[in-house]
Formats: sequence, structure tokens, C-alpha cells
Amino acid sequence: MRVDIISIFPDYFTPLDLSLIGKARTSGLLDLVVHDLRTWTSDVHRTVDDTPYGGGPGMVMRPEPWSQALDAVGPGTLIVPSPVGKPFTQADAHELAAAEHLIFACGRYEGIDQRVIDDAAGRMPVREVSLGDYVLFGGEVAVIVIMEAVTRLLPGVLGNADSLTEESHAAGLLEAPVYTKPASWRGRDVPEILRSGDHGRIARWRRDQSLLRTAERRPDMFAAYPPAQLDRADRRA
Ligand code: ADE
Repeated sequence: MRVDIISIFPDYFTPLDLSLIGKARTSGLLDLVVHDLRTWTSDVHRTVDDTPYGGGPGMVMRPEPWSQALDAVGPGTLIVPSPVGKPFTQADAHELAAAEHLIFACGRYEGIDQRVIDDAAGRMPVREVSLGDYVLFGGEVAVIVIMEAVTRLLPGVLGNADSLTEESHAAGLLEAPVYTKPASWRGRDVPEILRSGDHGRIARWRRDQSLLRTAERRPDMFAAYPPAQLDRADRRA
């Protein structure tokens, strides 16, 4: 997969050299390039922003550098992280992981002139996505989050592909709690059932924990869970 990230703070992306994303890059699974938006400015001050039409606080990113940047790196699927975007989900991560070329446009200040996004939408798929109902300084950290969610879904990145099917959000439920050795720690014991070796009972316990956790912590997710996917033992739980 090819990924281009455009930002006025390219240094934000040094974490993408580390860990499994770094490994995906060195192994050639991920071809990721970070660009400085100011490369595409033409004035001595390398200006990327101006005051908003209609007044109000803050600054807005000017369209010219963005259009040149997108012409230079595009076309591809354009992702614009923004607090006014659609909430980013695991389903989106799967869709993006299937794309050949992603382009991330990191807005700062009050955002990017809307015409940049509307104009790009005439030439490529565009998604404005939000990480949640809070406001960050800019799109950079959101891009790192999205890249983590997407890269781990690329074939060959995770050693054990089973972890993808069993994890939280994969099946519309949160995962059950997990434990490792020692069996007793600070007077707290690992649930007996997990040490029983009875795979049927363990699977049932995990399923129950998953349902209970989801109902308690994410009533929205629980309500959206298809009733057809509940078995008789679930209904008892
Ligand atoms: N940029 C600023 N706030 C954001 C948010 N909540 N999600 C994605 N991008 C953002």
C-alpha cells in the first residue's frame, strides 16, 4: 500500500518509523512518504493560512498549497481528519486497508478551505473522518491513529491473523478480559475456568463476559448487535 501524508509538521510522524508500522515499511508492505505542505507555497514566508471569510476567530488553511500538493501526490483515497467528519470505525479501517493508495491531509487552525475538499471529491474518493467528539490541535495525531488501525489489517503485518478475528469490534462486541501468569497475584486469582483446559466452557465464559462488558460499557453497541447472532445460551446470560 502507498500512503502519502501532507502536513505542516512532518516531524509529528517519527513514531511511524517504530514498531510494526516501521517493520511494514522496511519490509516493503507499506510505502509511506510524509510531505511538508510548505513545499507547495510560493511566497517568501511560505504562508499556508489566512483569515476566515465571514469573520470569527482563528485562521483557515488557504486552498492553493493544498491543491498543488494533492495534484502532486494524487489521485488516491483522500482522508481528511476533522472534528466535523464521520466517526472513524473498525469497518472504515477495513475499507481503507483494501485501498491501494491513501492520502492524508492534515488540517491545522480552524481547518482547510472547504473548496479543497469539494474540488478533490470530483477526482478521487474523499472521506472526512473524526476520531471522536473532542477537538485536537490538528489532524496529525488522528493520522497516526488511523494508520495504526489500517496497517495492522494489511496482510502479512500481524504474525497471527487470528488476533484480527477475535479482537474487540471485530464481531460487534467488546472482548472478554485477558490474563497471563502468575495464576495468583496480589491475592487475585485468574478465573478458574480459564485454567480448566475445557475449551468449550472457556469459549462460553468468554462469550458471556463479552456480552456483559458490551452491555455495560457500550449500550449503543449492544443495542446494535443483531439479535439473530444471539444463541440460546446468550439469551440466558
Ligand atoms: N482534528 C481535530 N480534532 C479532530 C478529531 N476529533 N478527529 C479527527 N481529526 C481532528
